Amino acid sequence: MSGAPPSGVGPASPIGVFDSGIGGLTVARAIMRQLPHESIVYFGDTARVPYGPKSPETVRRYSREISEYLVRQGVKALVVACNTATAHALPALRAALPIPVIGVVEPGARAAVAATRGGRIGVIGTQGTIASGAYERAIQAIAPEAAVLSQPCPLFVPFVEEGWLAHEATRLVAHEYLDPLHDRGVDTLVLGCTHYPLLKPLIGEVVGRPVRLIDSAEETAAELGRTLAERGLAASPGATPRHRFVASDAPEHFSRIAQRFLGTPLDHVETVTLG
Ligand code: DGL
Repeated sequence: MSGAPPSGVGPASPIGVFDSGIGGLTVARAIMRQLPHESIVYFGDTARVPYGPKSPETVRRYSREISEYLVRQGVKALVVACNTATAHALPALRAALPIPVIGVVEPGARAAVAATRGGRIGVIGTQGTIASGAYERAIQAIAPEAAVLSQPCPLFVPFVEEGWLAHEATRLVAHEYLDPLHDRGVDTLVLGCTHYPLLKPLIGEVVGRPVRLIDSAEETAAELGRTLAERGLAASPGATPRHRFVASDAPEHFSRIAQRFLGTPLDHVETVTLG
């Protein structure tokens, strides 16, 4: 992250948040709850979702295009809400952008290390996130003695998009993915994908009560709050937030599904094509 913000950018500027699609709204929601005076410009790359199976180079290119767009919108900080984009692109974005950049992996890793009792931490995410080893590295940087057991769960994203949050098919697939982690004694499970917090009740049932489920959204919002305060970039307590939602395709679909993630309906979604 570099020093001074670009000219014209200050405490009243919005925060940029992006994801491969709609799932990152779970992070936007946590920001709205914890930092109620901050404005957000949210970009969902609905034209190119999913990022999970794509190559690191492609995800980095998409992430760079979106970040440059958000910087042009005058954002004062960037939150990479997508786990796959964080896993592949965070260092490149931090090196390239003139504003603070916060990802979801380090906050999730910190929360997992704080929660584990026996040091056996499971991580679930997209193929890309798991293959990158980003969570494993972040957890072991804080707790070198921790055992990290990872499992890609690619079918969860389409189930959530379909609204099958408690469906029998989702439960069957969840057993397939999660029983091996349960059998290997994980006591903490990182929900390392934007969509998985919506499956929390079902995942909790499948892995059993004593396993702690870690959702990095709240921890990410807390880190954003600390970063803004440290840099003198926090919105004034009297500020009225103004949020914008931008999708790269199918804004009506975005708007419909967004309610599930955000808890409230969206009245307007802009469309911007990148790339
Ligand atoms: N947003 C992605 C993530 O958190 C999940 C959806 C996708 O594969 O693009 O990893």
